[in-house]
Amino acid sequence: MPETLRYAGIVGVGAYAPQRVLTNEDLERMVETSNEWILERTGIRERRIAAPEQASSDLALAAAREALAQAGVAPEELDLVIVATNSPDMFFPATACLVQDALGARRAGAFDVSAGCTGFIYALSIGSQFIMTGAAEKVLVAGADSLSKMVNWEDRGTCILFGDAAGAVVLEPVPEGYGVLSFCLRADGSGGPLLTLPAGGSRLPASHETVDRKLHTIHMQGREIFKFAVRVMGEVALEVLRKAGVGPERVGCLIPHQANLRIIEAAAKRLGLGMDRVFVNLDRYGNTSAASIPVALKEALDGGYIRPGDYVVMVAFGTGLTWGGALVRWLPEERRGILPTDRRRNPESFSKAKFPVGGRGILPTDRRRNPESFSKAKFPVGEVCGC
Ligand code: COA
Repeated sequence: MPETLRYAGIVGVGAYAPQRVLTNEDLERMVETSNEWILERTGIRERRIAAPEQASSDLALAAAREALAQAGVAPEELDLVIVATNSPDMFFPATACLVQDALGARRAGAFDVSAGCTGFIYALSIGSQFIMTGAAEKVLVAGADSLSKMVNWEDRGTCILFGDAAGAVVLEPVPEGYGVLSFCLRADGSGGPLLTLPAGGSRLPASHETVDRKLHTIHMQGREIFKFAVRVMGEVALEVLRKAGVGPERVGCLIPHQANLRIIEAAAKRLGLGMDRVFVNLDRYGNTSAASIPVALKEALDGGYIRPGDYVVMVAFGTGLTWGGALVRWLPEERRGILPTDRRRNPESFSKAKFPVGGRGILPTDRRRNPESFSKAKFPVGEVCGC
């Protein structure tokens, strides 16, 4: 063990989203809803849906491989594989063990974290502790979910919200003052009934009745979750900043859980942060649960929205209820290709090119209109099929 704590930083990021796109227009044909309603109330235009043969570990594996390649870390160098998920391949073994095996991370321990859509923040904080204490040198943290498999496709209150994806980061010791500077984990189990998947566990084991009553699908009181999220997102962001002694005005980029644009805007307002410093991609993915933050982080980096030395705040909320945040100071210099020089932020185009709703396009239109080509350019689509 080192005599003093070390700093743990993100040295590689990967993301994967399945190829199939489900648009709001598609949903109009499935439930009583409209593109306008969904856009106005959530900011979502489309989401990705995993193929029948794709499970969460397949998504996580693709993201993990990309993160490892970017970090220049071989799977057998990993000490730990942590997967945050709410849609594990099965109850056991843990999805992290499936990923560990598929990667060939022979020396690594592996376990899952179940903390709702806050799962990635929880997992990041756990992984960081292992690095900080010297108990591990290289840790893979993934967030992966395929909630499309658990949604009631007749319930318009939930089926419009969720999409499938995975993101992953590699953690290593970094120079003092960089990497994870603070984090904050919170829970209030009394709010658990607001967002549940009631059956299939030891309380309500699977039976014909539970299947008939659709108790293996997501049940949510959306309005209550909305109020909770608006309250806690800004609060927890301020808390991680306070803990590290960093003022909100120094935040380079806020990466919020991508659930609802109105919730994100409320959090930004609470921080006193202009939306030009908030990364939003929920228009194209919807709420990808534990994957939402690492996928957004990957896109923010690829888009050049995070610069060396930037303070990056990540905040999330989810079932549990849980919520949490982390403050990360990005590495001082380019490292292992994580910040390509040709993609440095142009603050002007950043603020202009950012947002999906009401004409504030988040992406160049050619990408938005042709999600197929975007997915090919961006993620290793198809690589995981048949894993
Ligand atoms: N299309 C059209 N109408 C819909 C609809 C849909 N997809 N879903 C609900 N409605 C209707 C409701 O039935 C309701 O009609 P009523 O007034 O006749 O009863 C009306 O729209 C308003 O419903 P409400 O639930 O108050 O809408 P809202 O503005 O709160 O938006 C959510 C609903 C779900 C989008 C919003 O509450 C939300 O995003 N909550 C947070 C959910 C979340 O993030 N969950 C994941 C946590 S990690």
